[in-house]
Amino acid sequence: MTIEQLIKIALQTRESAVAPFSQFKVGAVLVAKTDRLYHGCNIETSSFGLTICAERVAIFKAVSEGEREFKSIFIASDADRFTPPCGACRQVLWELAGNIEVFMIDRSGNYQKSTMQELLPFGFDKSYLI
Ligand code: THU
Repeated sequence: MTIEQLIKIALQTRESAVAPFSQFKVGAVLVAKTDRLYHGCNIETSSFGLTICAERVAIFKAVSEGEREFKSIFIASDADRFTPPCGACRQVLWELAGNIEVFMIDRSGNYQKSTMQELLPFGFDKSYLI
């Protein structure tokens, strides 16, 4: 699948977001090494702290389906600039997906490409557990 196709899917996935409080819709598409796609959107509840970001929905869905190796994630928001994953999502993506490519997409479909290593330098992971 091309970058352009994956950008379109991420923008479409954003439409599933449940964001009545922030009105800020985010869609994520995680690409596994098998080329399977896992979609996620942000989901907010009236107990605000229980909100979950699009990126974590996508990775938790993938891992729960048995997927373990990933290539990239495409993250699309409503903003007119590129939305980077929050700190919590960086930690979870780093631990569960490793140094994947990260495509941050604005509402018009423009994108900026980065990597998890760039977004989370010196990240904590299981190698530090003794
Ligand atoms: N959000 C995401 O889903 N992903 C991000 O990368 C940034 C923030 C969501 C969480 C919340 O529902 C809304 O955007 C505003 O923070």
